[in-house]
Amino acid sequence: LTSLVLGSYEECEATADWLLSQAPARPLVGIVCGSGLGGLAEMLKDTVVIKYSDIPNFPQSTVHGHAGKLVFGTLKGKACVCMQGRCHLYEGFAVQKTTMPIRLMKLMGVETLILTNAAGGLNQDFKVGDVMVIKDHINIPGFAGNNPLVGPNDDRFGVRFPSMSDAYDRDLQKLAHDVADELGYSSFMKEGVYSALGGPSFETIAECKLLRLLGADTVGMSTVHEVIVARHCGMRVFALSLVTNQAVMDYDSEKKANHEEVLQTGKQRAKELEKLVSTMVSRMELK
Ligand code: 6GU
Repeated sequence: LTSLVLGSYEECEATADWLLSQAPARPLVGIVCGSGLGGLAEMLKDTVVIKYSDIPNFPQSTVHGHAGKLVFGTLKGKACVCMQGRCHLYEGFAVQKTTMPIRLMKLMGVETLILTNAAGGLNQDFKVGDVMVIKDHINIPGFAGNNPLVGPNDDRFGVRFPSMSDAYDRDLQKLAHDVADELGYSSFMKEGVYSALGGPSFETIAECKLLRLLGADTVGMSTVHEVIVARHCGMRVFALSLVTNQAVMDYDSEKKANHEEVLQTGKQRAKELEKLVSTMVSRMELK
């Protein structure tokens, strides 16, 4: 199991070394771009771009709206690595495999991980185009045993039973709000709880109501498993949801969730999201 689906420590180390031999510098910040939000990677300077298909053992993303490239470079002078596209549970990967890139980032030197996603809004106060700072999550696949840390634990990555009560770094959340205020983004900045489902079908109306009752503000199909693996190996985590559509909560609604709308809203808010993240990176204290 360890070598087949998880990627052993040694395999991750070998792949990380292979990547580092081509990278311009050891990255300190890792960025994972959500659907339609790959433009963040285009802000990097002095880049080296590596296709996922050229990386040994790397899970390949097959989703429209995800480029499938790893971009090394600098953002505001800070060494970063950016995943332009991520792979998801619904593509058929074992959850342990989807998070392998996070461990590669760790082994390459990444201390701070920033994740973005496109999500449906469950909180009725949220509008399409709102940006939500994620303060906590609900890992629905995890309830059924689909947690990325299932399997033998390698202590070199982290402990067997990691805490998740401090998963989202509070200082980085504060930084996000401060930067958003300065940039004049307060009107569309929110904070809340992200819930992840396996997908690929969108939620039913009853499922949306259930998630809202559970305390979720947005719903998507990613991020939580990456956060778990990142916290397991001691990275600092910050994550954002872009509300690309309102989850349908009532039976009289004619609306239906669809991927095109998700990508379209991503485009409309992309510039502000890029500015927010890059300004945050410029202010981060890194080693
Ligand atoms: Cl409404 N649901 C899920 N699961 N993911 C989404 C979404 C909705 N909108 C964007 N991504």
